[in-house]
Parts: sequence; C-alpha cells; structure tokens
Amino acid sequence: MAVSESYVTRAAKDILSLSLASLIRMSLGGFKEGHKSLHDTYRVVSPFSPLKEGAGRKMLALIPEVSLESLGGLPEQVTLDMRYVDVNGATPFRDLIAILALAKNQHPRAALEFGTYFGSTTANLALNLPSATIHTIDLPEDDEAAATLIDGQPVDDLHLISGRKLGKSFRGTAIEQRIVQHQGDTATYDYSVIHDPVTVFLVDGSHTYEYARNDTLHCFELARQAEGQCTFLWHDCDCHCLGVTTWLVEMIRAGLPVVRVRDTSLACMRLDVRSPQVQKVVYSWQEQQALRASRPAWQPEPLSQA
Ligand SMILES: C[S@@+](CC[C@H](N)C(=O)[O-])C[C@H]1O[C@@H](n2cnc3c(N)ncnc32)[C@H](O)[C@@H]1O
Repeated sequence: MAVSESYVTRAAKDILSLSLASLIRMSLGGFKEGHKSLHDTYRVVSPFSPLKEGAGRKMLALIPEVSLESLGGLPEQVTLDMRYVDVNGATPFRDLIAILALAKNQHPRAALEFGTYFGSTTANLALNLPSATIHTIDLPEDDEAAATLIDGQPVDDLHLISGRKLGKSFRGTAIEQRIVQHQGDTATYDYSVIHDPVTVFLVDGSHTYEYARNDTLHCFELARQAEGQCTFLWHDCDCHCLGVTTWLVEMIRAGLPVVRVRDTSLACMRLDVRSPQVQKVVYSWQEQQALRASRPAWQPEPLSQA
C-alpha cells in the first residue's frame, strides 16, 4: 500500500476487504493483525487492478502448482554468477535457482534457451552444466536488424529488446566456448543448425501467446532428436503474461503434464515427446501452425497482446 495514500482511501480499501476471516483474525490477534489481514486480502483480491491481470490469475489457477523438490530431487549445490541477476528483465534469482536445479537434474548434453538478453541464465546454465553445450537465441544485437525481423509480428517487451547487451554475462569468459549464440527471430529461425541432442529447453523470448506456442513447438521438434525424457521450462508463467499462461493451459487441456513451480514464475513439463500420445497432440498443433504460417502476416489476436 502506498505511503501517500489518504486516510479515506485506506479506510475504503479496508471496508472493501472486510470478511469473516479478517474479523476472526482481528479478534484472535488484535487490531494490528486484523488490519494486516485486510491489507493482504485487498492485495490478493485487487478489485481495481486491470481486468487482464484478473484473467491472468484465473488462467494461472488452472495450472497445477508443485514444489521444486517434487519435480525430481534437488541437486546438493548450484553455482551462481550473480552479476546480471538484478538487471531489469533478467530472471530473478529464485527462478534462476529453480531453472538450474531442474536443468542439473536432467544431466543434459545440450540445452536451448529462447531469449538470451544479458545472458545471465545462459552463463549460469553453462556454469552448472560443465559438460553441456548451451544454445541460446535472441534477436540480432543491432536494433535495426531486429526490427526488420520482427516487423509485423506481435512481439512484446520492446523495452527489453532495445535495452539488451546481448550475452554480456559470458562474452570473453572461459565458458563462452560452450555457448552457441544464435541470432534471429525465434518464430522464423532455422533450428536445423542445432545438431546436439537438446534435452533442456527454456522458453523466455517474446511472451505473446503466438510466440509461446510457436517457440514450444520448435522445442518439441528438436526434442525428437534426443533420446528419452526432456525438461521443458517456460518463464513468466504469471498473471501478467496472459499469452504464456493461455498457451500452457491449452497444453494441459490437451493432456500434457505442465505444472508451475511454487514461489516462482516458472512452468515445467517433463516428458518423452516421442510417446504416441504426445506425438498425436503435437502433430495436430504443427499442422495448425503450418496453416497459420501460410498467412501473409501474423494477425495480432486479442490474447497475443499480453
Ligand atoms: C525476458 S528477456 C530474457 C531473459 C533471459 N532469459 C535471462 O534469464 O536473463 C527476453 C529476451 O527475448 C528477446 N526476444 C524478444 N522477442 C524475440 C524474438 N521474436 N526472437 C528472439 N528473441 C526475442 C528479447 O530481446 C530479450 O532479450
């Protein structure tokens, strides 16, 4: 709650948040405790926050939440290069730790990240997977080239695109030799240049519905080159990124085991894409995607404006 709020505004918010639960808390814990409860209720319910966020919260509730531990045993240690974790737009450290734990747990020979940005997650993946090759893709560093590539497509995060220092975290360091920086639009990039058996995928490029979906389908395609189970991760699975959550819910409705990791904005799925059930679902999506691609240009759709 903002410090500058007037007494009247605060009182109005308290009245709006009044509930039996807060009255019980007040009687058990006193006025201060009760007031805190009102404050928490208002924050969670946030009656006047943009409706899009409300829709995001509803979508989020449809994605089962699990603990990090339940996803297959935590590694004893992860190594963290913290230098770029606090850059605005980089993955926050709690989410980063979850990504690293899940990646380590998979023992990949190769990983692929969509959305390099400063390279904080890329560098940390390389540090924690000392025998793996880390592929990472972002738009070309040159803003003009990037703008040409994404022209006409509904990307978001334009401030991040223009504020990037592409791969700054790993450039000129010893780990750079195990990192392959791909430059292009994730929607149209030719992924056949990747020959490594990628088994860890992190989708964190543009967060519109179209990109979340399209990037995921590229992951599935690449995962077919690898043997067995793969780990798929999506960042920004939260109420602000309706495009991402909408796509994740679509996958769940198709029977895929997507879950979100408690206390993070990370969604995770572990499976073998070559199983017949998954192949069937993915094949139908790829067919639809091919139809969409035959359109002259991507049409912004309401859900893609997350
Ligand atoms: C949220 S940042 C990624 C953060 C990074 N994974 C990290 O952990 O620090 C998103 C990145 O995706 C890139 N991006 C956005 N749209 C893209 C597109 N269409 N193709 C490739 N990269 C894109 C942006 O340039 C930006 O660097």
